[in-house]
Amino acid sequence: MNPAPGAPPARPRVLSGVQPTGQLHLGNWLGAIRNWVELQQDHDTFFCVVDLHAITVPHDPARLAEDTLATAALYLACGIDPNQATVFVQSHVSAHSELCWLLNCVTPLNWLERMIQFKEKALKQGSDVSAGLLDYPVLMAADILLYDADQVPVGEDQKQHLELARDIAQQRINARFAPRDASGEPIPILKVPSPLILKEGARVMSLTDGRNKMSKSDPNEASRIALLDPPEVIVRKIKRAKTDPVMGLEFGHPERPEADNLLGLYALLSQQSREAASNECAAMGWGTFKPLLADAAVEALKPVQTRYREWRNDPASVRDVLGKGQEKAASVASDTLERVRNALGFLPSRPD
Ligand code: AMP
Ligand code: TRP
Repeated sequence: MNPAPGAPPARPRVLSGVQPTGQLHLGNWLGAIRNWVELQQDHDTFFCVVDLHAITVPHDPARLAEDTLATAALYLACGIDPNQATVFVQSHVSAHSELCWLLNCVTPLNWLERMIQFKEKALKQGSDVSAGLLDYPVLMAADILLYDADQVPVGEDQKQHLELARDIAQQRINARFAPRDASGEPIPILKVPSPLILKEGARVMSLTDGRNKMSKSDPNEASRIALLDPPEVIVRKIKRAKTDPVMGLEFGHPERPEADNLLGLYALLSQQSREAASNECAAMGWGTFKPLLADAAVEALKPVQTRYREWRNDPASVRDVLGKGQEKAASVASDTLERVRNALGFLPSRPD
């Protein structure tokens, strides 16, 4: 582990976040949020709803607040425990925007222009691409670096953004601006985080095309299972999911991405090893397999959906969790921001 530039937390610090856009789906759950729940027991966890990221593409102001609250409620419904984890809204802690600006000024433009997610999203947007979309990964770096995070659990698609955060911290801040101690050793300003990408579940693919990842932005709703889809919708989507003419489910066949994806989903949702799932389904036709998978999905999501309704019926409690989260997050974040401001040579503001 890297030496902690701020006061070292007793347990490794973890930070992650999801945007409050669209409906969270099985990919978000299995690739990201479900792993958070395990981490919160022996890590110092910070989970934010990244609403500032949500406006990097055109958004509906009438929905943003509600979607933010709903996403926070889903975190809690998925098992994030507000007594163990710090749950907060990104825009409630202004240090995110402030550090983002400071990092912007040391980040080379061409580092951002080569980000795969930017290129993909910009292509989809056509002519109306905001500067914020290009800057998205710098804001994400600010999110992570503000909390001296040791580890960042995300799906595989975010690996490049994590690398960028590491490079900014290491090459652009620490290497250039770190003060020296008495023996001339640099004192790092920002902690360099590590990605935490769990292989299984790291990439859930679309139900309608096993070569594309399941995504909130796919215009075809049948391509994904939302965490709040009612059982009959889950059953219908799985019934219509793309298959192939081959009998028996298997992993790893290059011509059978759908078999690989759905068998992987079955293993994760029924909480068995990939080997056990693969043995169980090796000789099964699609007609037998699909109801089995649908059942596993409905059962796995049932407790999440029940808890979600409980939290949504009590929005004041969700606000309460977010208020406490904001307080804790802001106090950690302001220390880091101060370190960076000092290292960059700003005139300190006058204490009140
Ligand atoms: P997004 O839906 O892009 O806001 O992503 C939120 C989180 O879910 C990130 O950590 C992603 O890496 C993860 N994620 C999104 N889609 C998938 C997917 N299809 N498979 C696995 N993880 C995913
Ligand atoms: N970019 C991430 C995604 O799409 C969301 C995100 C924003 C994030 N800030 C973060 C994830 C900080 C982890 C840590 O999934």
